[in-house]
Amino acid sequence: MHTEERTFIAVKPDGVQRGLIGEIIKRFETKGYKVIGLKMLQVTDEQARAHYAEHEGKPFYPRLLKYIQSGPIVAMVIQGYNAVAGARHLMGATDPNQAEAGTIRASFAQVKEYNIVHGSDSVESAQREIGIYFNENELFTEGKCMSELVVESLDAEG
Ligand code: RTP
Ligand code: MG
Repeated sequence: MHTEERTFIAVKPDGVQRGLIGEIIKRFETKGYKVIGLKMLQVTDEQARAHYAEHEGKPFYPRLLKYIQSGPIVAMVIQGYNAVAGARHLMGATDPNQAEAGTIRASFAQVKEYNIVHGSDSVESAQREIGIYFNENELFTEGKCMSELVVESLDAEG
């Protein structure tokens, strides 16, 4: 069965500050996922609490809220086959030193408190998180592949 999914990805403030925006987006694009929404923003208190509601009450929660608001993030929605699990696989485990070699976190981070990237952990979380950061009219699913563009331009030439 076809399972084209959308997932919410964010380059966390440390990733933005360290100049790794392009590097991180590239990992998802070269995998073949389509970036259908993208913006840089400062996370508000309300967004931070909504995003990480599942962690409320945990010892690291206050630090997590501070971390995600410590500078701008680059928020994006990516789409592709099994994209939720696939994106998590590309990111690697929460703790960069447990993450598989070659994953984003293993490659670019040292501690879980600064693990540079976020990805939704389920289709339901993805839907909820996308809603926190994007309006439906900020998502763009139209788009042509190169061969379609070529055919179109040749047809226009007559
Ligand atoms: P994320 O939600 O950011 O994609 O990360 P995740 O699913 O791999 O990990 P999760 O359990 O959802 O934790 C959210 C973020 O909280 C920070 N964290 N710190 N000090 C700690 O023990 C601890 N545990 C988690 C990490 O930044 C983690 O990504
Ligand atoms: Mg999580």
